[in-house]
Amino acid sequence: MKRYAVFGNPIKHSMSPLIHSYFAKSLNIEISYEPILGTIGKFNIEARNFLKDGGSGFNITLPFKQDAYNLATTKSNIALITGSVNTISLKDGEIHGDNTDGSGFIEDLTKNIGYIVENKKILLMGAGGAAMGVIPNILYENPAELKIFNRTFKKAKDLSKKFSDIGEIQAINIENENKLEFDLIINATSLGIDNVDFVLPNSFFKEDTICYDMSYGEASNSFMSWANKNNLKFYNGLGMLLEQAADSFYIWESKRPLITNELRSILKQRL
Ligand code: ATR
Repeated sequence: MKRYAVFGNPIKHSMSPLIHSYFAKSLNIEISYEPILGTIGKFNIEARNFLKDGGSGFNITLPFKQDAYNLATTKSNIALITGSVNTISLKDGEIHGDNTDGSGFIEDLTKNIGYIVENKKILLMGAGGAAMGVIPNILYENPAELKIFNRTFKKAKDLSKKFSDIGEIQAINIENENKLEFDLIINATSLGIDNVDFVLPNSFFKEDTICYDMSYGEASNSFMSWANKNNLKFYNGLGMLLEQAADSFYIWESKRPLITNELRSILKQRL
């Protein structure tokens, strides 16, 4: 039986063990998948020990995605471009790093929600690890424009420079902008965790603007309340969580599990 895990700190509330066990069962594959509370500053040794003890691969969540990047001896293109790794597998004797966050996000948006990104005006809120993980995949879909807004402008500016080779991307200052009317607004900030009110000028949206929060549960409440108040369609990041997990599962087992409505409702009950 293959052994997998997810490393994070904190890790108690991770839904990955439930998701991967469900996937394995649905495909008649026997695996074990355990949550591991990583120690800050000791990720490298703990991760290596897991592999030495027979682990076949693992997921990585906050705050170890960059450590996982450093641990990996070979990397996929998207891991190299984003500088972060959320999936480790063993491949030809190498510790291989991949990142399925961006593909998971795009799959949820395009396949599950049915949204076409091409030629759309997109606003991405936030310039941390979560934002960085999805930018290349958004740009690959050829939006009309991708603007990044962040509390700390410099971080948005740095991100836009980092990815400017891939497509049209620009950091913005709210005060300097007027009628922008985005088609899609994505929240990749952690503002909801602090229960801070979400605010954006009225000129940033129109009647059919779609709102997507990469977080879920209580962390997505601020953005959801704002979207509801303005009568905008809102989606949380549960679909992304499932899709990135399915992509990781595929990397390990070469089989992509189906994401069923039953699994979605199990997760919703857990929130
Ligand atoms: P993650 O990996 O979840 O992206 P992170 O790298 O710490 O976490 O990034 C958090 C993001 O949320 C940042 O863009 C941060 O803005 P700053 O760069 O200005 O710190 C944003 N953020 C966090 N709390 C916020 C708040 N109360 N209001 C606005 N933005 C906030």
